[in-house]
Amino acid sequence: MSSLLLLMLLAHAATLTTSTDENISDLDSTKSVFILAGQSNMAGRANVIDGKWVPLVPPECAPSPLILRLTASLTWEMARDPLHKDIDVNNVCGIGPGMPFANSVLKKDPSIGVIGLVPCAVGGTTIDQWSKGQNLYDQLIKRAQAAVRGGGGGGGKIRALLWFQGEEDAETAEGAQSYKAKLDKFFTDVRLDLQSPELPVIQVALASTKGNYTEEIRKVQLGIELPNVKCVDAKGLPLTGDNLHLNTDGEIQVGGLMADAFLQLTGEIN
Ligand SMILES: *[C@@H]1O[C@H](CO)[C@@H](O)[C@H](O)[C@H]1NC(C)=O
Repeated sequence: MSSLLLLMLLAHAATLTTSTDENISDLDSTKSVFILAGQSNMAGRANVIDGKWVPLVPPECAPSPLILRLTASLTWEMARDPLHKDIDVNNVCGIGPGMPFANSVLKKDPSIGVIGLVPCAVGGTTIDQWSKGQNLYDQLIKRAQAAVRGGGGGGGKIRALLWFQGEEDAETAEGAQSYKAKLDKFFTDVRLDLQSPELPVIQVALASTKGNYTEEIRKVQLGIELPNVKCVDAKGLPLTGDNLHLNTDGEIQVGGLMADAFLQLTGEIN
C-alpha cells in the first residue's frame, strides 16, 4: 500500500471518529429543532413487552431522512425509536410521542424541512429534578445549545419545547400543591437560558390514572397562562396495563395532537 493511500485512509478514519462539534456543524443550517423533555411518557414506554423493546414500528413512527436525532454524545443520526435509548438509560425505552410528532408535522407542513429531535426525558423524574441548577435542567440546556451550534450558517433554530411530565408529582399532595409555581418557573428559565423568551412550549395534560393527585396536576397543566404555551389533553387516550403509560396508539395520538398544537401556535405567531 502506498503511503499516500495509507494517509488518506487514516484521515478518513479520523473524520469518522471526530468528536461531536464537527459532526454537528455538518448539519443543515435550516433545521427545525425540538426539545423532548419530561418523564417516561415522553421517553416512551410503548412497544415494551415483558421488559423488552419490541421493534414493530407503525408507519406513524417510521424513520425518515428528514428526521434526525441528537445522540447522548451530541452527534446527529437518523431518528428511530426508541428515541431515548441512550438518554433514559436506566429504563427500557420504547415508542414515545417524538416520532409521530415529527412525522405529523412533516406531513402537514412539508416546508418545515429537516427536523432535529433532541431527546432529554428521563423516567420517574419530578419537577424539582428539572429545576434550574439540577442536572437534568443543565443537560437540557446543554443539548439544546449543541443542537443549534453549527458552522457558518448556524445549526438551525429551536422551534419548541415538547414537555410531558407530572406523573411523579401527582403521587403526593405536596408535589401537586407546589407544581404550578415550579412549572411556570421551569418554562420561564428554559426560555431565558435559551435566549428565546417566546419559545413555543407544547405540554401534555396527564393521561395516567394512577397518582392520587393527578386531577390537581392536570388542572395546573391545562391552566398555564404563559404566552405561547399550549396544552394538549391526553386524558382518555389508551394506556398500557399499568394505567400510567400510553400504549403505541396513545403515543401516536398524543404526538399528533402536539403537532397540531405546534402548527396552530406557529400559525398564530407568524
Ligand atoms: C392514594 O390513595 C389511596 C386510597 O385513598 C391510599 O391507599 C394510598 O396510600 C394513596 N397513595 C399515596 C402515595 O398517597
